[in-house]
Amino acid sequence: MSNNLKVLFVAAECTPFIKVGGLGDVTGELPLKLKELGADVRVVIPGNKDLDYPTEYKGDFPVKMGWKEETCIVREIINAPVTTFVIDNYHYFGRQGVYGHRDDSERFAFFCSAVYEMIMRFDFMPDILHLNDWHTAPTAMLIRENEREHHQLSQISIVYTIHNLEYQGVSDRSIFNLFGVKEVVFKVDKVEYYGCFNAMKTGINYADIINAVSKTSAKEMLSPKFGFGLEGVLKNRMQALRGVVNGINQNTWDPETDKYIWSNYSKDNISGKKKNKKELQKALGLKIEDVPLFSVISRLVPNKGLDLMNRAFEYILKANNQLVLLGSGEKYYEKMFAELSEKYPGLVSLNFEFNSEKARRIYAGSDIFLMPSLYEPCGLSQLIAMRYGTVPVVHKTGGLADTVIDETRNQGSGTGFIFNTYSNEAFIRTIRKAINLYNNKKAWAELVKRAMVRDSSWDSPASEYLSIYSEAKTENNKRKHKGRT
Ligand code: GLC
Repeated sequence: MSNNLKVLFVAAECTPFIKVGGLGDVTGELPLKLKELGADVRVVIPGNKDLDYPTEYKGDFPVKMGWKEETCIVREIINAPVTTFVIDNYHYFGRQGVYGHRDDSERFAFFCSAVYEMIMRFDFMPDILHLNDWHTAPTAMLIRENEREHHQLSQISIVYTIHNLEYQGVSDRSIFNLFGVKEVVFKVDKVEYYGCFNAMKTGINYADIINAVSKTSAKEMLSPKFGFGLEGVLKNRMQALRGVVNGINQNTWDPETDKYIWSNYSKDNISGKKKNKKELQKALGLKIEDVPLFSVISRLVPNKGLDLMNRAFEYILKANNQLVLLGSGEKYYEKMFAELSEKYPGLVSLNFEFNSEKARRIYAGSDIFLMPSLYEPCGLSQLIAMRYGTVPVVHKTGGLADTVIDETRNQGSGTGFIFNTYSNEAFIRTIRKAINLYNNKKAWAELVKRAMVRDSSWDSPASEYLSIYSEAKTENNKRKHKGRT
């Protein structure tokens, strides 16, 4: 069925062109895999000042934004691995930073309206419109609310992937008014949320199939703790909710060929990992010793489990183990870590930056990867860590629960360590277990090997997406007969 299936994949970021987090990796990798499987895929992203790739002009047209009109310029990235369009407008996207602007709701409202216009004007009517996160979700509303007038739109089946439910794009009603859809749509069973417009909610209510980026995350979303106020809306659409864990590009993340690390290695020859460790210790100014070297590579934002790190770090360092941290974010955390590093000279390396080459060297040279996220819809770093034989210690949530096998409960077949309760005690207890096993050289080497052979490729997620696409078609047909939305 994949042959000639036309897919339009819409997201706010896409590697290698522009990336903030995991969403960018997924947009850069999943469409490519779908293309390999025979689908006719196109990607659409918004423009950005940092997007420094040659493009070709494809056209421009006016986009209605309430009573105003803005111009959309469509460009195509030259030689992109998958046909990739950039939606541009000097006012909204001639800036740096994908997110974090005061008018983000309006910027992405423009993006959605422009994608809708592009579908209407360009010679590519997709079978599947695959939207991602709140920035793209209102496109679903535009398609469905205009299909009575433009019948061809009803042929489009819509899949909506939620990468992070916490960010919902809630804004006041004036943003809703920009879309020019009927006033009656602004109702609680559609897009209204406590008097506001909720972009995430439009995606949930208008998509044919909704999916989370892991099975556990799909379940967690239905609870008040992880539903972020939308658990009720999701429960209403539970029949249409799926979960597909992400993959990573195993060709670009490969310790056997990675040209940024000091010594290449594979599951059959792990000794190269030791060389990387020594070089990493040297490069970071750490003592060259055979003690467990812990790593954290993360954006420094609360949901990444930062409130558990202080005490755990203290525990690690007191016992003369080592720690390297790479990532930037909230200054408060940077200060907290800086205090630790003064207290334990030679044992800690703090790197408050995003540096992808350094990240590779840390994945290759460290022993234990810490990822105590409070919630983690999927998580990609634990997959990369395993690929590089760095044993993850993770909280049992979302994709972390679905991708790591706990060695304690599955002795001899685990790929990392999992703690159930989000507490300092549970995290530290699990770190202690990891250190104990590290000292059993034979068992540790086997654990490292098992982590390395885990298949984290896109092969199986991509075929799951193809099944979801076909389910979306079925749902869309049912809807047309029954008249949902
Ligand atoms: C978001 C989630 C992360 C996931 C990524 C890609 O960043 O927080 O868990 O891996 O999206 O789906």
